[in-house]
Amino acid sequence: MNDATQFLEQNQDRLLDDLKAVLRIPSVSAQVEHRDDMKRCADHIAARLKAIGMTRAEVMSTQGHPVVYAEWLGAPGRPTALLYGHYDVQPADPLELWTSPPFEPTLRDGKLYARGAVDDKGQVWMHVSAIEAHMKASGKLPINLKLMIEGEEEVGSEHLEAFIRDHRPMLDADVILVSDTAMMGPDQPALTYGLRGILYTQIDVQGPSKDLHSGHFGGTVENPANALATIIAALKDADGHILVPGFYDHVRTLSDAERKVIAEVPFDEKGFIRESGSPMARGETGYSTLERQWARPTCDVNGLWSGYQGEGSKTVLPAKAGAKVSFRLVPDQHPRDLFPKLEAFVKKVAPPGVTVHLTDMHSAPPFLTSPDHPMLEAAKRALRRAWNREPVMIREGGSIPVMSTFEETHGLPAILLGFGLDDDQVHSPNEKFSLSSFYGGMKSCAYLYEELAKNA
Ligand code: BES
Ligand code: MN
Ligand code: MN
Repeated sequence: MNDATQFLEQNQDRLLDDLKAVLRIPSVSAQVEHRDDMKRCADHIAARLKAIGMTRAEVMSTQGHPVVYAEWLGAPGRPTALLYGHYDVQPADPLELWTSPPFEPTLRDGKLYARGAVDDKGQVWMHVSAIEAHMKASGKLPINLKLMIEGEEEVGSEHLEAFIRDHRPMLDADVILVSDTAMMGPDQPALTYGLRGILYTQIDVQGPSKDLHSGHFGGTVENPANALATIIAALKDADGHILVPGFYDHVRTLSDAERKVIAEVPFDEKGFIRESGSPMARGETGYSTLERQWARPTCDVNGLWSGYQGEGSKTVLPAKAGAKVSFRLVPDQHPRDLFPKLEAFVKKVAPPGVTVHLTDMHSAPPFLTSPDHPMLEAAKRALRRAWNREPVMIREGGSIPVMSTFEETHGLPAILLGFGLDDDQVHSPNEKFSLSSFYGGMKSCAYLYEELAKNA
């Protein structure tokens, strides 16, 4: 233990209160009614960063929600890290399923419950706490540090790429740090070296010009809900194989060596499936659960609507049907290549008598880095010090759109150091962050800056 980690231990309650303050701001990027909350949240974070000693901390505008940018560059000759995180959160609904209100952070059994608790405000706050600890302990940081905390991650980071390209020199660094992923268990730290990409689409099917009597017209014109079901059924076969021609053209096959590495990861598959609430594991034939999550693409309906859904029954032939369908992508798939293939397929399998429109809502390519670059070695040393445990190298099923942008604009090594747990209910009601992750995470961040300083 040193002065910085001592500060963290002695100020645990106050640091938790600080996190609660930012969690009270409902920064939901997807909903227009929260626009002012987004700005308020960005202002709050910038003010806090300034207060703990960052020399520059400001709210910068983009074409969408603002970015918080901050820096402290008082360590000449030492490496510069660019920390990325996001202050926006997913919508909290359905509200009735929350045990305590989503924007009133509540402590139960050593866990802090709130929307954004782990994704990603709590993980950003591990860094804010670690920065404050170093500043209070010695008046300086072990490395040069820049922070870019964005407000559109949960809606696809649409305007961030332009912001990064417009401010390329300001964002220059030696390494990118991200804390927005998970660990392998409450005591098992992990570093993430791969993320899946995503292609998020909407299918709109139009049938008759208005809702019709299903007896008078039923059987005489095409029903768009039935047509949509036909389209969705055509996307995947019984083995979980996606049937869009060319979909697997660029999918990297898992080598035997990689499969062996994945099989050796300490993964509690039973616990993972139990946590999902599903009766059993199910996915693409021939792959393990972890292989399916990390290294195989998916096709999932995320939303589906048509026809009468109210009380009782109504004999109606609906005019429209729609679905949100997303695909998780793996190296070396690219959403730009896949969208036209999908569009052609959907139009081909759609029955006659309806018009079908496919919209590309947002997308991000997958991300994969080497699991043993020198910057990661520094992160491994930091995690060993904080957890007394050898960290494991993992990939993740989720996506962080900016990672592939950074690869193009900066081409820097990246450290994804996250502390989420499988039962954190990310994007669900009752999202939480375990205090063991919050406190262990901030200690890891404080050590990480020290270990990166040794990589000079
Ligand atoms: N923090 C997550 C990404 C994540 C999830 C990493 C699970 C590791 C494990 C991030 O906030 C997120 O939810 N990303 C979205 C991106 C999408 C909206 C483009 C996702 O993966 O759905
Ligand atoms: Mn996140
Ligand atoms: Mn998220």
